[in-house]
Amino acid sequence: MDITQAIQTKRAVREFSQQPIPEEAVLAILHAGRRAQSSKNTQPWWFLAIRDRQQLQALSELGTYASHLATAALGVAILTPDPAARWSIMFDAGQAAAYMQLAAWGMRIGSCLVTLHNPEPARQVLGFPEDVHARMAISFGYPADPSLIDQEKVYFDRWPEAQAPSPSAHR
Ligand SMILES: Cc1cc2nc3c(=O)[nH]c(=O)nc-3n(C[C@H](O)[C@H](O)[C@H](O)COP(=O)(O)O)c2cc1C
Repeated sequence: MDITQAIQTKRAVREFSQQPIPEEAVLAILHAGRRAQSSKNTQPWWFLAIRDRQQLQALSELGTYASHLATAALGVAILTPDPAARWSIMFDAGQAAAYMQLAAWGMRIGSCLVTLHNPEPARQVLGFPEDVHARMAISFGYPADPSLIDQEKVYFDRWPEAQAPSPSAHR
């Protein structure tokens, strides 16, 4: 999927299949976050990748709309310095989140942001220190409904040349 297509088709995905995300895709997602732009290139973030089911369950209880984190194949907690220190910290965190989500969607992996409305217990779950903060996380996983992501099967005006074989080829 090219970047324009990814931007145009991306949706929030909150229902995931049981299919695990391959290690190289996990690394590509995390690397996309590291490549995000940030104020004065300060990169005020750490990304904590979580696949442990108990940790995902515990984090899913820390937000009002966070239940999808419990069933995600991968959770990424976006850790930052104190967001109250300067406004750009959460802006930068949002940039990193968008990069990771678009990189994932390009690999047909869905995602949804998670606001941790009750962030302090995340410290216990993930073991990060006092001067680090967790306000946001992201759920990642292959969509339970693959048609969400197969939107390139929609064409305009003409069957695309040199792109897809005819449906009979799949039979
Ligand atoms: C700052 C921010 C916080 C969000 N927090 C949550 C959340 O806690 N739970 C959730 O399910 N979705 C959350 N979302 C996802 C939005 O609900 C979603 O991006 C929006 O509904 C658009 O969805 P769509 O791209 O499928 O149209 C958040 C999005 C943003 C930008």
